[in-house]
Amino acid sequence: MRENRNTIWSEHVQGIMTLYLSRKLRFDDMFFTQYEGLFDLDRSAEIKILEIGCGPGALAESLHRWYPGAHITAIDRDSNFISFAKENIPGVDFREGDATRLPFEDGTFDVTISNTVQEHVEPAAFWGEQRRVLKPGGVCLCLSARKGLHCTAPCLEKTEKEKAFWESILQSEDDLEKFRVCRFPMSESEIPASMEKNGFIDVITGYAVIDLTPDAPKYSADMAERMIEAMHQNDIEAVESAHSDQTVEILSVINSKYEERLRLYREGRKQWDTSVSITMIIRGVKG
Ligand SMILES: C[S@@+](CC[C@H](N)C(=O)[O-])C[C@H]1O[C@@H](n2cnc3c(N)ncnc32)[C@H](O)[C@@H]1O
Repeated sequence: MRENRNTIWSEHVQGIMTLYLSRKLRFDDMFFTQYEGLFDLDRSAEIKILEIGCGPGALAESLHRWYPGAHITAIDRDSNFISFAKENIPGVDFREGDATRLPFEDGTFDVTISNTVQEHVEPAAFWGEQRRVLKPGGVCLCLSARKGLHCTAPCLEKTEKEKAFWESILQSEDDLEKFRVCRFPMSESEIPASMEKNGFIDVITGYAVIDLTPDAPKYSADMAERMIEAMHQNDIEAVESAHSDQTVEILSVINSKYEERLRLYREGRKQWDTSVSITMIIRGVKG
């Protein structure tokens, strides 16, 4: 049983907390109005939604709140993500599965959805499998992260020692080819064209812009501290995944910097660090 576990993504590409906490923020209820119009789904309908490449499950968790009448199934190839999601997120049917061979009958779902998955899966299989499992007239929603903005807090600037460490991690990221990551990147014009080429009609596009600036007064203390913690966990998991003999030393530097970041936030001493993510949403209908 255990030897069949696939844990490549969670161990070598992005860790559980990196994905879960960052997506919990991006799919927070306060941003739902940005997604709602583009999704254009009936909120009370008893529809069947399939999320593909769900990772640790944050989008599925939000979909469950946003569409209370829906039955949500979510699949991913990575066993660690699915175990985490099953343990922590009630109300969603999480399963291990491959986007190129969806384990469902033809015409099962009203909606398929994915977030930052298209670039990792061969296009004919990615669209073809979704088209196959959708009912006639079913909706395919593809969410794709585009280039955003990022500005680090002065108190979180990297020391020389950390810079050397991160550079060594970046070099090893060239190895991501061997984990088959991001082999099918597409531009903002190529994704909708690819969707049309693969049999979807009435294709529309739009953008959700999520501004994560802890010091902005529009955010509650809870939200601001969750932003800081998401950055912190992202840095911790990146260091850990490098399996370096410097791990303990670098983690201690990182932990103290984030303690300082939190202290400054709580004292009202603004740092104005910001991370603005731009998510492109492409919606098509099974023609
Ligand atoms: C960038 S992560 C995004 C995860 C999740 N959608 C999120 O936003 O947190 C890409 C995900 O796609 C999954 N994935 C990649 N190729 C896949 C495939 N062929 N079948 C199923 N999942 C796949 C990975 O395991 C990973 O969880």
